[in-house]
Amino acid sequence: MATVTIADRNRVVEIPAGCSILEALEMAGVNIMHACGGNCICGTCNVVMLAGLEHLAPANEPEQLILKKLKRQGPNVRLACQAHPASDVTIQIGL
Ligand code: FES
Repeated sequence: MATVTIADRNRVVEIPAGCSILEALEMAGVNIMHACGGNCICGTCNVVMLAGLEHLAPANEPEQLILKKLKRQGPNVRLACQAHPASDVTIQIGL
């Protein structure tokens, strides 16, 4: 189990192991764009990791390619559909 805190929505959701941040957002009833349905194509599900980045596996090559194309960039930006927290994380959706 891990918790995902959605800082700019004042929501916290517990997720089972292997769950993505995108799935956590859906469980919390928080809508976020995810145009490609979680297939690491669109980049619309990007979020900022405010805490717990170390609890995610490093971005794989397909995610890195999408992240390079985004307006919002930085070492703490990840794709919610590709990020699977191993422990507690805090994210921000909005800019
Ligand atoms: S939903 Fe398209 S990249 Fe995450």
